[in-house]
Amino acid sequence: MQIVDSLLGLRAQIRTWRAQQMSIAFVPTMGNLHQGHLSLVQRAQTIADKVVVSIFVNPLQFDDKADLQAYPRTLQQDIQQLSETDCDLLFTPPAELIYPKGMAAQTKVVVPGVDDKLCGKMRPGHFDGVATVVTKLFNLVQADMALFGEKDYQQLLLIRQLVEDLNVPIDIVAVPTCREQDGLAMSSRNHYLTEAEREIAPQLYQSLLNVAEQLRSGNTDWPAVQSAAVQQLASRGFKPEYLEICRAADLETAHPGTDTALRILLAARLGKARLIDNIACDLA
Ligand code: PAJ
Repeated sequence: MQIVDSLLGLRAQIRTWRAQQMSIAFVPTMGNLHQGHLSLVQRAQTIADKVVVSIFVNPLQFDDKADLQAYPRTLQQDIQQLSETDCDLLFTPPAELIYPKGMAAQTKVVVPGVDDKLCGKMRPGHFDGVATVVTKLFNLVQADMALFGEKDYQQLLLIRQLVEDLNVPIDIVAVPTCREQDGLAMSSRNHYLTEAEREIAPQLYQSLLNVAEQLRSGNTDWPAVQSAAVQQLASRGFKPEYLEICRAADLETAHPGTDTALRILLAARLGKARLIDNIACDLA
């Protein structure tokens, strides 16, 4: 696996692969890799000739400075893990390379319709930061496809929309959420949990399953199902930010009787960690 931190190095390798008619799959990450990230790399390897992974803790998408400072940076460990996969090139750009004029002077990519819901509402500017860095990375890496986890479902839809709206010539591939044995969605933020918090964290997934079960068994008072789930999480020590039953296609509020392809999404704080999770729920 090559490790490249310069534009010239990246461009040279991409040009060579392109000249050899090789297809390239790209997995953008912020590092501190776990099996969830590695599942994207493994999938990438099955759909393209070459796999590029990037690790860049993108300051533009952190609405909270303390969160950015605390974000785990474990490059040596990440390199070790990636070297055991079929990753061909690891791109680790320094912030000056991505934002040479600083963040304020950077042209931004703004995807409409995300700031008013779910994580967009809770984290102002977050998705503009994601859309901007991903657009830049797409232009740098020039891959044929890019892989994103369903774990960050709103992010996945945002990327699909930006690719469609800006006619970016890349295919977006979604990969299912990797979970710990007890159901907790794998996340770099799980490290923030104390032992006691880690014990109760899987209740988030249980709560999603429980909501889906109620919808499947015909309960049509969805607002009541949502608020009961929120209250239950709060009583168990979580600070829920939202739990919503949405249309899977656009994350608008779903309505019983009309909408059947659903996504149930939640975000909650537990101790120092802000955890998110979501599941599909098909009523058709
Ligand atoms: P990061 O949180 O490092 O995640 C990188 C990719 O891994 C994302 O596509 C995310 O959805 C996926 N992922 C994380 N946990 C997962 C899990 N348990 N199962 C499956 N996939 C999982 O998401 C970001 O970084 C950034 O916003 C980024 C897109 C890199 C832009 O900075």
